[in-house]
Amino acid sequence: MTMLQVDNMTKEFGGLRAIDSLDLTIKKGMILGLIGPNGAGKSTAFNCIAGSFAPTRGEITFDGTRITGEKPWNLCKMGLARTFQIVKPFASKSVLYNVTVASFATTGSRKIAEEKAVAVLESLNFGDKKDILSGNLTIADRKRLEIAKALATEPKLLLLDEVMAGLRPNEVDEMVDILKALRDRGITIFVIEHIMRAIMALSDRIVVIQFGKKIAEGLPSEIANNEKVIKAYLGEDYVVA
Ligand SMILES: Nc1ncnc2c1ncn2[C@@H]1O[C@H](COP(=O)(O)OP(=O)(O)OP(=O)(O)O)[C@@H](O)[C@H]1O
Ligand SMILES: [Mg+2]
Repeated sequence: MTMLQVDNMTKEFGGLRAIDSLDLTIKKGMILGLIGPNGAGKSTAFNCIAGSFAPTRGEITFDGTRITGEKPWNLCKMGLARTFQIVKPFASKSVLYNVTVASFATTGSRKIAEEKAVAVLESLNFGDKKDILSGNLTIADRKRLEIAKALATEPKLLLLDEVMAGLRPNEVDEMVDILKALRDRGITIFVIEHIMRAIMALSDRIVVIQFGKKIAEGLPSEIANNEKVIKAYLGEDYVVA
């Protein structure tokens, strides 16, 4: 049972090939980690899958339906939600307001939207902050708000772009637990993350890209010991030493 399949996807920006013939598959109910050096093309891959950009070439299939070039709002209605690397809440509005706006993806009723938003916030241990203005949240809580907004659209597949960047170690551990609990509730997760400890603890499988190309794929334990991956992250010298 496949939730997402990307076949031979390429994305060019003028002369720059940010994604180069990428293939990947995520099985339903799994967490796939995507790692690679800065500028490797990770966010671009998400932008193509979530409909922000159309890929230059290739095909994307989501839960059995071809979605290549489909618009983000249609994808959201189909059950594909994403967070952004740069978070942009309505800063002068409350946490609850921000999540309620996202809930309108699934209902036209203000009452139901708000009830769903409250339930999502509680599932993320975030209910006690619902009345805080989003602009006053800590980084950790802004990341949690991003996830809450995505979850309020009731996704089958959740794309998370660096939701742990800037968190303290204990906050990272808490986020790993929250994401595993979402996976256990049946949500398939595709996650970009630079914090190795987190991605290793979280992912069922990991794909590594560099210069837009896949250079490795496997279980976290296989990736941690892969020489190409170590070179891509830490440089030749590290491997030789
Ligand atoms: N809208 C755009 N227009 C032109 N070039 C872009 C655009 N978005 C990304 N790029 C380029 O594509 C390449 C891949 O960028 P991308 O943001 O996907 O990398 P990333 O792997 O997410 O990096 P990071 O780890 O720093 O977030 C970079 O060279 C970047 O400058
Ligand atoms: Mg990025």
